[in-house]
Amino acid sequence: MKSAAGMAAGTIAPRVGLAANGGLSIPSDIRSRFPRVGQETYLNAAGMMPLGDFSIEGLRRHEAYQQLGGGDGRGEYVRAMQTGIRGLFADLVGAEEREIGLVHCTKAGEQIVLDALSAEFAGGKGVVTNDLHFAGSLHNLLGLQESGLSLKIVRAKDWKIRVEEMVAAIDGDTGLVSISLVSNINGHIEDIRTIADAAHAHGALLFADIIQAVGITPVDVRAMGIDVASCSCYKWLYGVHGTGFLYVRHDLQGTRLPDRLFPGQARHNYAPWVSDPDLTQPPILYHEREDATRYQPGHVSYQGYCAAYEGLKFLAGVGVEAALAHNVRLNRYLLEHVDAARYRCITPDVDRSPIVTLLAADPGDAIRRLRASDAVVSYSDGRIRVSPALYSNEADMDRLAEALG
Ligand SMILES: Cc1ncc(COP(=O)(O)O)c(C=O)c1O
Repeated sequence: MKSAAGMAAGTIAPRVGLAANGGLSIPSDIRSRFPRVGQETYLNAAGMMPLGDFSIEGLRRHEAYQQLGGGDGRGEYVRAMQTGIRGLFADLVGAEEREIGLVHCTKAGEQIVLDALSAEFAGGKGVVTNDLHFAGSLHNLLGLQESGLSLKIVRAKDWKIRVEEMVAAIDGDTGLVSISLVSNINGHIEDIRTIADAAHAHGALLFADIIQAVGITPVDVRAMGIDVASCSCYKWLYGVHGTGFLYVRHDLQGTRLPDRLFPGQARHNYAPWVSDPDLTQPPILYHEREDATRYQPGHVSYQGYCAAYEGLKFLAGVGVEAALAHNVRLNRYLLEHVDAARYRCITPDVDRSPIVTLLAADPGDAIRRLRASDAVVSYSDGRIRVSPALYSNEADMDRLAEALG
């Protein structure tokens, strides 16, 4: 399979060429803000969101700041991003700003909770997950299993996780339940509140990978009972790789989830470091952080976060509900225009999911057809994952349906 730079593994490489601006349903200014959709039929936002002009502007503003210094408002912009971005994300997921930290990717967030619970795992507690959790996370958990972690992986039946099977798998030996709120495989949405309640009833915590949810489906960490969550910004938050968010419920910080590293600066409290040492205090001072930034090792990609900052502002203007409604409408439109006998929909809840996945009866034929088109979707083992976004329209779906025959 061909691949293009920056494209997720398994993505069908496009034949660049076809203009894609025929739709009427999205205001033309939104579509024109994503130049990539003028180049190809891009239906892979769940793989990587193409950069919008607003995100590019954020990147440029940080570049100018680092190149030219803080004059002419450049420093103010970067400071506003640094002080505002955690709050913007907190608003999006129903959290408090003190519950949000910055991590470089989703799995880094999941690893923080795995590391923090290591003593519980050493004492015999285990992890419950399922096979629609991100395969990269499953791989990590299998690696940890090699070194002794007890792991249960519930299997989907006909591409759907039965919540009662998750609940039955959770017991007094469970330390953590780790799941993807929205599956990248087929857009399956977990019955997260029921799973969280089962975890909590047994004293376990719930980690949610929210990368395929946040920014495109409503996420409310408190209403959903999520204890820890993380995501990267390069999908539904309109940002770039290397930037992401971590949510840790406040009462768990530094208690049930102890720090594994201690960011901050030691301060010397003796001469000649200070002229007036405080003799009631130790010679070198340590200050524990009191918010989720306590899990951050050090500096992050401030430039990358400028893209996400603009993305979050853009999203606040559009609204997650509107973005989801748009996707659901387009996904349903696609399903009406493809041959269901040749392309079976394996997304359990098309009316709520941003993603629709089709299982090709003849995978070889499907690959050939996709390669001959300019459609960019994700393809793996006969599964064609389609993920439109605000810039998409019916004409994109018509082209994909036509390509699939
Ligand atoms: C459900 C899910 N989790 C995680 C990731 C990526 O993880 P990370 O942000 O750690 O690179 C993806 C990317 O495709 C995903 O779809």
